[in-house]
Amino acid sequence: MKGIAGKKMVIGNWKMNPITLSSAQNLAREVSRHTRGAHASGVDVGIAVPTLYIPTLSKITKGKWIMLGAQDALQGSAGSETGGVSFGMLKEFHIAFSILGHSECRARGESDGQIKEKLIGALAVGVTPIVCVGETTRDDRGDFYTIVLKQIDEIFSSVQAHKATRIVIAYEPVWAIGTKQTPIPDHVSEMRLVIKKHLTEKFGITIARKIRVLYGGSVDEENASMFMRDGMIDGFLVGSASLDPVRFAGIVHAVSAA
Ligand code: PGA
Repeated sequence: MKGIAGKKMVIGNWKMNPITLSSAQNLAREVSRHTRGAHASGVDVGIAVPTLYIPTLSKITKGKWIMLGAQDALQGSAGSETGGVSFGMLKEFHIAFSILGHSECRARGESDGQIKEKLIGALAVGVTPIVCVGETTRDDRGDFYTIVLKQIDEIFSSVQAHKATRIVIAYEPVWAIGTKQTPIPDHVSEMRLVIKKHLTEKFGITIARKIRVLYGGSVDEENASMFMRDGMIDGFLVGSASLDPVRFAGIVHAVSAA
């Protein structure tokens, strides 16, 4: 991965967009053009694109500051998995990272146990895992903390401490994804603290400090500065705003200015 642990990060999750390869090429070129200089100013910028577009888009992002990533894959190596694509296959096309455990994949039946296997597969071939965690609803008793920590416990259960620094966590409250509703920044910083404390108990403080925590869920160019300032996070996982190069660049610039 071009980036280093501790650097700020903005990842665009294109999901199942755009509908043609040529519009994907245009979007990648425009994102690259609008975010020029971001890497030098201390931000790792990446786009997680549909798997089918990876070979073509890798020619556009090669040698540029934009990291190319996947939105999901099955395991590190080849195997008997009809319809599957492995991290090892995608690595040949220079992917640097992959989103794992996005709530939209979980909604299709993905379990924490399956995400754990994918995490091991990604780490085995040198793909940086961006692991999504988050509660579906926010209750008054604080059960959402337990839910998130349980996800982390299950998914991280076989990770050796020396590999843990390569993992990025994206805190994405499911109720904030694509809804234009966001938690207040204080709630994000509280969750970050709870996650960091838990990681410290698991791996020790030196390693826990190096694991980046992003926020995702209705992030846009308007609220990005506020979340960076008061949410205490290392950057963002951005959905819909990442499909507009100007809006996405606005978020990247807010992060680099923070
Ligand atoms: P959103 O999506 O920014 O459109 O809310 C975030 C995500 O799904 O990662």
